[in-house]
Amino acid sequence: MDMKRIFLIGYMGAGKTTIGKELAKHLSLSFIDLDAYIQSKYRKTIAEIFDNLGEKEFRKIEKKTLNEVSLIEDVVISTGGGAPCFFDNMEVMNNAGVTVYIEAEPEELASRLLASKTVRPLIAGKSKEELIPFISEHLKKRERYYNKAQIVYHTDRMISKDEVNFTVSGLEELLRNIIAK
Ligand code: S3P
Repeated sequence: MDMKRIFLIGYMGAGKTTIGKELAKHLSLSFIDLDAYIQSKYRKTIAEIFDNLGEKEFRKIEKKTLNEVSLIEDVVISTGGGAPCFFDNMEVMNNAGVTVYIEAEPEELASRLLASKTVRPLIAGKSKEELIPFISEHLKKRERYYNKAQIVYHTDRMISKDEVNFTVSGLEELLRNIIAK
């Protein structure tokens, strides 16, 4: 494969952005975070877009932006947790490059989300006790989209730098075999 384009998908808090940034460095590719790209393009935070325009409009913006970044070459793109679940986005990504589902357990996702400063409108204000069952239910609905990814990569704890490095190195090895073909 001459041109390299890797999409990271998965639930909120899975570590797509953290992994994506490091992975891009390891593979000497550029890195795009779809939400960050939307925020700078529209000069609004994701929370503001949800508040001002509603989720439906956010999904349209997300789709349009995904189509745009899917043309960029030699890049790792991390996407928002809902992106694969709307329109034909999963097909767009599968046609444009290698898709990787960053999979994690609801308990792990919940603790990462509770520690995060990013405002995520879909889970705003939920306590840990509410979050775990919410994520379990939500994941069940989303998994059928996530599982269309070409690679499913399971992650465990990713708190320390060493744990992140371990995760990224494993994924890098897997991907090197695929993108070298
Ligand atoms: C969303 C995930 C968020 C962001 C928005 C909606 C979702 O991205 O796109 O808040 O529907 O799961 P992260 O997965 O980076 O948190």
